[in-house]
Amino acid sequence: MISEEILAQIKKTQKFSDAAIKLMHVVNSVNYSANDIIEIIRYDSKLTAIILKMVNSAEFGMRRKVDSIKNAVSMMGAKKILDIAQEIYTRMYLNKPLSGYESDGMWQHSLRTALAAAQLAPLCVKPYDTEKAFTAGILHDIGKNVLSNFLGNTAHSFIDNIDRHRLHDYLEAEESKLGTNHSEVGELLAREWQLPEFICQAIKHHHKPSLAEEEFKPIAYIIHMADIAAMLSCSDQGSDSLLYEVDTTYTDYFHFSGQELEEIILVIDMECEQIQKTFAEIGE
Ligand SMILES: [Fe+2]
Ligand SMILES: [Fe+2]
Repeated sequence: MISEEILAQIKKTQKFSDAAIKLMHVVNSVNYSANDIIEIIRYDSKLTAIILKMVNSAEFGMRRKVDSIKNAVSMMGAKKILDIAQEIYTRMYLNKPLSGYESDGMWQHSLRTALAAAQLAPLCVKPYDTEKAFTAGILHDIGKNVLSNFLGNTAHSFIDNIDRHRLHDYLEAEESKLGTNHSEVGELLAREWQLPEFICQAIKHHHKPSLAEEEFKPIAYIIHMADIAAMLSCSDQGSDSLLYEVDTTYTDYFHFSGQELEEIILVIDMECEQIQKTFAEIGE
């Protein structure tokens, strides 16, 4: 049962920019064009400015200056610009400390999960859209932004109780204190912002994918496993890192070996480092 205070906080929580929400809907449409992306981004001056700074940074090694979003899309492709846009606005939103989770910010973990989800999507029994997987990955833990302030200094007692098997996992720990968890609250937040259904479902079921409706099981399992890969790739991702149960029925949805998982972890480590270097270089 969610308290009135938490419900009120969901309503009050600052929303992503209009451009960001529109881009998430574009990702969900089957036939989006480069023009759709250009038309959304060009009216958001802040997003446009940061994208241009990024694509002109040394990391991208462009031979000539990229001076418009249209130019950026034609040189790098719509998908790449879409990824960069999502990295930027989620960084603006998620890169702040969350005391309830003893975390410097959810952005690094969210980015690692998104990068892993994009790697896992093609390995599904029925390959899944990589862009949708990336988007759901980057948003999967947004519920923590709402719950952090309600948790107070509970992390140590949560970890202790999980270690002593008094609590099953971190989700149950959140429920023991607040009567709800970050998956449930994240789904409500996504619905409040009218995000596409696949994102709402991925957020709701990312720790218990077997409970998702059949249609949304693939994305729920992708984000479940991507979350685990992200936590394995870097231990410094908050007090709840690796304190969740792995749903072993994932093998019904993926074909990948232990070695492939290790490779995915290496790739997301490299990609994440590269993206963080680029942000550092442009001073954002
Ligand atoms: Fe989570
Ligand atoms: Fe997570």
